[in-house]
Amino acid sequence: MTTYLITGATGTLGHLATQALRALEPTAHIAVLARPGADVDRLRESGAAVRRGDYDDPPSLRAACAGIERALLVSSPVLDPTVRARQHLAFLDAAAAAGVAHLTYTSALGAEHDPGHHRTEQALAQGSTSHTILRNGLYTEPFVERAWQEALTTGVVRSATQGHALRTASVRDLGLAAAHTLAAPLPGATLELNGPGWTYDDLTDAITTRLGRPVRHESVDDAELGPFGPVHALFRAGLLAQSPAELTRLIGQAPRTAGEVLAVVAG
Ligand SMILES: NC(=O)c1ccc[n+]([C@@H]2O[C@H](COP(=O)([O-])OP(=O)(O)OC[C@H]3O[C@@H](n4cnc5c(N)ncnc54)[C@H](OP(=O)(O)O)[C@@H]3O)[C@@H](O)[C@H]2O)c1
Repeated sequence: MTTYLITGATGTLGHLATQALRALEPTAHIAVLARPGADVDRLRESGAAVRRGDYDDPPSLRAACAGIERALLVSSPVLDPTVRARQHLAFLDAAAAAGVAHLTYTSALGAEHDPGHHRTEQALAQGSTSHTILRNGLYTEPFVERAWQEALTTGVVRSATQGHALRTASVRDLGLAAAHTLAAPLPGATLELNGPGWTYDDLTDAITTRLGRPVRHESVDDAELGPFGPVHALFRAGLLAQSPAELTRLIGQAPRTAGEVLAVVAG
């Protein structure tokens, strides 16, 4: 009997990975990590056993990893790279001490330029635990959700990509990918997971069709997009443009398009 632990299970990716793993492996073999005090009603309803632990509390992580054979470490949302790396390394140490046989880590495209992810990937490479690194692309959902809300409230979708394509991946597909690497580990693999390309013109057309009324796409400066501005600049510079090939192979199906994500977002 293989036993699994998934961290970040109260969050989006960890929850989706847990759901996907339940379709591949018996729920009774799956435990999820939640911080002390976190609301775990939804997790308990799914049937997974809840273990309490905090990336900032190494003893809690060692206890949570006891008896676990394969673990998914969902990266911490903390932005400070020093804190983030310390949290991740605490989990890697706990997993090694508990004898976890295989670990999947959700990193990010461009990890070599991100000190928190880079340090974690280095620690995995230097350690003795079998592991798979998933360098996840940016999630499609926040882009589509924002465009949908803008269209509903103003009839205008704004972007600063200047017609350049974006390549993003649905977080649902990334959760599925993570689950696959737990059920069938790929030791030593570093996979760059991305979805199909799309443009704001395509998305605006799809929103127009769905709403049944005209929606306009307007090009604006980065500064007008708040936190999305710097991200649009990355796509304008042709970065994060990895192909969907590795994600397609891993999940055994074509990754969701922005249009398919829109269908979910728009309900
Ligand atoms: N690729 C992308 O576009 C993208 C976008 C956003 C984030 N990310 C990265 O990918 C990760 C997963 O994304 P997500 O959307 O699932 O994020 P999310 O919904 O914010 O979930 C983060 C998870 O981490 C848990 N967590 C936070 N601090 C913790 C700690 N000290 N100890 C243990 N658990 C802790 C949270 O638990 P609580 O519920 O207790 O807070 C939550 O379950 C993020 O953490 C971030 O590193 C990627």
